[in-house]
Amino acid sequence: MKILVTGGAGYIGSHTLIELYAAGHTAIVVDNLYNSSKESLRRVAKIVGVDEIPFYELDIRDRAGLESVFAAHHFDCCIHFAGLKAVGESVEKPLEYYENNMNGTFVLLDVMRNHGCKNIIFSSSATVYGDPVEIPITENCPKGKCTNPYGQTKSMLEEVLKDVQKADPEWNVVLLRYFNPIGAHCSGTIGENPNGIPNNLMPYITQVAVGKRKELGVFGNDYDTPDGTGVRDYIHVVDLANAHVCALRAIAQKCGLGIYNIGTGHGYSVLDVVNAFVKVNGVEVPYVIKPRRPGDIATCYCNPAKAKAELGWEAKYGIEDMCRDSWNWQKNNPDGYQ
Ligand code: NAD
Ligand code: UD1
Repeated sequence: MKILVTGGAGYIGSHTLIELYAAGHTAIVVDNLYNSSKESLRRVAKIVGVDEIPFYELDIRDRAGLESVFAAHHFDCCIHFAGLKAVGESVEKPLEYYENNMNGTFVLLDVMRNHGCKNIIFSSSATVYGDPVEIPITENCPKGKCTNPYGQTKSMLEEVLKDVQKADPEWNVVLLRYFNPIGAHCSGTIGENPNGIPNNLMPYITQVAVGKRKELGVFGNDYDTPDGTGVRDYIHVVDLANAHVCALRAIAQKCGLGIYNIGTGHGYSVLDVVNAFVKVNGVEVPYVIKPRRPGDIATCYCNPAKAKAELGWEAKYGIEDMCRDSWNWQKNNPDGYQ
């Protein structure tokens, strides 16, 4: 299939490109490089053994620009990663987040429809469950209240996409609810490259391990969890990338609307992750216990059975693989793509 990959220069997009190539698909990237660099695409090209990844430096809100990309290519499907994703920043800049994520998707969907491309895979998030009413979380779990504008955009865009598919059943829409992606490609040449102080756990751990930050702050040890620290469903980014290839098969079979949890089904606490990282990599990760982070929940992990049954997808990598590959990327690239 010929796939438009919005946000393809970013963390998950770059890993997905590799799996798309491996599965024999053609991918064309549109990215405004707001949170990424062309270097990731150069490295992906090297990994997959091509001269370059076809790329348009373009904001998806630029309707005329996007129209010209669709005029030049007949796309079978779009994998839509492009969006802003920093939770804290979204609280400070709600308008920018709503504008980019909502309007970007509206323009994209309209241009897709104008060009007869009615297949889309959307990057959603476990955040749509809010504080989940059941653990492990199945797709039948009701959506919850999101505590921040970032999460709201994911939840609202899911509803927009459902309505689009309902109004016109020619659309095939797959909503992938990612749990906590970490890890990196085994080459150690591409990975997560956060700007400034990392918000998320694994990039913070790797920056402590490489000596860029003094110690990890563990946000709360008084949750109702086995060791008191927050429990999450960490998933290797390569497994996550593969879920998109499986979703493409469902789209080819005209799946209509599909909603899937993409996680391993295992919950690990903050201290489990720190301990696994230290054990696997033989490096120190000093930490201090800090107060809870506002908006955090105690436990979040999924039941991924639906993705296995309907997409034929399941995670292959475990927490030790994730810790090894995150470190391999960080130690080889202490300053990311710079
Ligand atoms: P990322 O920031 O690395 O990648 C997103 C890419 O989109 C970036 O390259 C950015 O430059 C680009 N982009 C943003 N706005 C754009 C616009 N208007 N036009 C064109 N390009 C634009 O993030 P990621 O971690 O790879 O996440 C990919 C998607 O998955 C995002 O939608 C994110 O919200 C979602 N998601 C991520 C996580 C996670 O933990 N990383 C979890 C759940 C969902
Ligand atoms: C966060 C977002 C979520 C988003 C996801 C991926 C919040 C409240 N949630 O999820 O909406 O979809 O990132 O971008 O921000 N932790 C520490 N110290 C740190 C960092 C994290 O102890 O320096 C803890 C957290 O309290 C949590 C766990 O590590 O228990 C995972 O945190 P994080 O990686 O930020 O992911 P989520 O909070 O699950």
